[in-house]
Amino acid sequence: MSWLETELTRRLGCRYPVVQTAMGWVADANLVIGTTRGGGFGFLAAATLNTAQTRSEIEKIIAATGSRNFGLNFHMFQENAADCVDMAIEYGLKAVSYGRGPDAATVQRFKDAGVLCIPTVGAIKHALKAVQMGADMITIQGGEGGGHTGGVPSSILLPQVLDAVNVPVIAAGGFSTGRGLASALAAGACGIAMGTRFLMSQESPTPAQTLERYLKVTDPQQIRVTLAVDGMRHRMIENAFINRLEKASGLGRLLIALRSAWSWKQQTGMSSAHMLRTLLQVLKEEPEALSQTIMASNQPVLLQKSMQDGLPDEGILPSGQVAAAIDALASCETIIREIVEQADARLADLYQRSAQPRGQASRSAS
Ligand SMILES: Cc1cc2nc3c(=O)[nH]c(=O)nc-3n(C[C@H](O)[C@H](O)[C@H](O)COP(=O)(O)O)c2cc1C
Repeated sequence: MSWLETELTRRLGCRYPVVQTAMGWVADANLVIGTTRGGGFGFLAAATLNTAQTRSEIEKIIAATGSRNFGLNFHMFQENAADCVDMAIEYGLKAVSYGRGPDAATVQRFKDAGVLCIPTVGAIKHALKAVQMGADMITIQGGEGGGHTGGVPSSILLPQVLDAVNVPVIAAGGFSTGRGLASALAAGACGIAMGTRFLMSQESPTPAQTLERYLKVTDPQQIRVTLAVDGMRHRMIENAFINRLEKASGLGRLLIALRSAWSWKQQTGMSSAHMLRTLLQVLKEEPEALSQTIMASNQPVLLQKSMQDGLPDEGILPSGQVAAAIDALASCETIIREIVEQADARLADLYQRSAQPRGQASRSAS
């Protein structure tokens, strides 16, 4: 299986080039432990945790796996972003992932501590910027991917970014099979990253009522993009709540956003000063993004309703379109093993075909 040893497995210290991405309320210690034991590389999602919870989840993973070969995902606009930076360094974690990135000084701190920076990007200009800011590797997420997502499909974005950057590239958005892993490796990626497939696993903390929605959807077009949650492109399974939110008046949406902001402030212990500082900073630097900032707490609060409270009709169901192609839950270990075995078979077949005399190869191609 030498083609399954890549820059990803070498740099991240895992057996297989398969990454479990961060998902708020979903990618908890148990999911990361399952991924690590299965030979993949997992990211703990810290954007929906406070500092004490993040610390406790990190320690749980280290205790269960005896390894620090996992990553931490956070956003720089979290109030405790500085704590996340400190914790990744203090615990000597292998990597961090993020969307909108930390500044150059923070990236340098990670580099000095040997923590790899692996941002996720949805467009080529963001990939170039991330590399300029010091990214060690890049995860591209094609538009078919779950949660916040761009508009360029993986099949277009991956080759574009591979041609444009000189760091290893991980392919995300729409992956769930060994065929996908084989095609990404053949294109030049160092591995794949998956969110939705791991959400639909036995280790996922997602309540059964919510998982049922993910298992039931069979039409990829029902897993669509909306701007209604926080003004950004957000891919999710259509449900009664999202249809209602999209039809609501401007005032109705503002009230929902304010309710979410209040609930998030209570849960995270966010100070009024931080809230005000964030709003003033946006007003100064990017006034057109003000409504988006007010709506930002919709995401964690509405996600919590489905992912923690088990109320799939009262919250949102972020998902990649690939959920429509997945009809069963499996353990992380089985998911990774089946993907690796299928990729190995596909790549071995290609290799064999390339060794056959011309003519025979095309006859055996299937
Ligand atoms: C339920 C859900 C929650 C997510 N939350 C986060 C998050 O907190 N941080 C993040 O960087 N990406 C988040 N994402 C995006 C995933 O990490 C990942 O990039 C995406 O799911 C990949 O596409 P796929 O679903 O087709 O595998 C989320 C995705 C889903 C489905």
